[in-house]
Amino acid sequence: MTAVARPDVVEQIGHTPLIELRSFSTKNVKLYAKLEWHNPFGSVKDRAAYWMIKHAERKGILKRDKSIIIEPSSGNTGIALAGIAAALGYKVEIVIPEKVSEETKNILRDLGATLHETSDDLCPRVGAGTDQSIALAKAISKPRPDIYYMPNQYDNDTNFLSHYESTGPEIWKQTNGTITHFLTGCGTGGTITGTATFLKEKNKNVRAIAIQAQKNHLLQGLRNFEESAIPELFKRRLGVVDEWMTATNKDSFEAVRQLVEKETMLVGPSSGSVMASMLKVAHNLDHGIIVGIFADDGRKFGSLYIRENVLTKQEYDSALKSAKYLSKLAYSWTAGYFS
Ligand SMILES: Cc1ncc(COP(=O)(O)O)c(C=O)c1O
Repeated sequence: MTAVARPDVVEQIGHTPLIELRSFSTKNVKLYAKLEWHNPFGSVKDRAAYWMIKHAERKGILKRDKSIIIEPSSGNTGIALAGIAAALGYKVEIVIPEKVSEETKNILRDLGATLHETSDDLCPRVGAGTDQSIALAKAISKPRPDIYYMPNQYDNDTNFLSHYESTGPEIWKQTNGTITHFLTGCGTGGTITGTATFLKEKNKNVRAIAIQAQKNHLLQGLRNFEESAIPELFKRRLGVVDEWMTATNKDSFEAVRQLVEKETMLVGPSSGSVMASMLKVAHNLDHGIIVGIFADDGRKFGSLYIRENVLTKQEYDSALKSAKYLSKLAYSWTAGYFS
């Protein structure tokens, strides 16, 4: 049975904790993680999804109990849209690459979303001729503008705005304006452009570091910008990025393991990429306050971690039981560990 959250669940979006990663910090270089899985639907994408829905409601595009929201997503935007839409009274259809984890697909089905699977990479590709998920969502929605609304997170400036208005100000406040380096993994580019633009308006010396995945990767939510074009949303503000880093599957999974062992945290693969990159940045610094976005937790990735030998089944189950900082989600997940 799907548990539909109450409409006021949207008020819980944002205001996520910032915690120090004490076992990785040194006296003069401190590492912090922004725990985005504390959003009610479990990831950083609650912010963009809510802002896009809010904006469309204000413009009169979305009508409760009538409109269908359709979106290409590698999972987290889909989960956020499905959860928020169910709470507010919209139907949702998600166009999703078939390689996305089964746990992710089960959550989406649990939230009442209809899934259209494509043979895209792990993240929907952007760029003419390769963008199967995006093209399919457009093909379904275009002939029926009276019913369908496609937020299109790859081109929708409200995605940028969600981080400019929420993630950025939260981090500035939580670090008392002392942040020196900001790192996040990139999919649409909404998180890096929105957060970094705000932080740089406060202090132009804050260094914005964008992380892309290696080619042919297993890092759900991230993309490689040679395999897939840079989304329009990102292109409009590419100048905000000071440095690019590329995360490998191997380094990211190693960091996932280290976080289990040293911080008793169970994180998703993209947080592993951010952790691995933060360690590289910290290694070359004498002083600094480094903040990384931990976009989602590891509860959707048991099957991936066991298949890829990141953790044994026993290690995963034990990490799940002892993990610190996991949050209560706004939905029940009958196929998983929640009730
Ligand atoms: C787990 C995860 N990390 C990072 C990102 C990147 O976020 P953005 O689309 O804002 O670039 C996403 C986006 O889907 C994600 O799902």
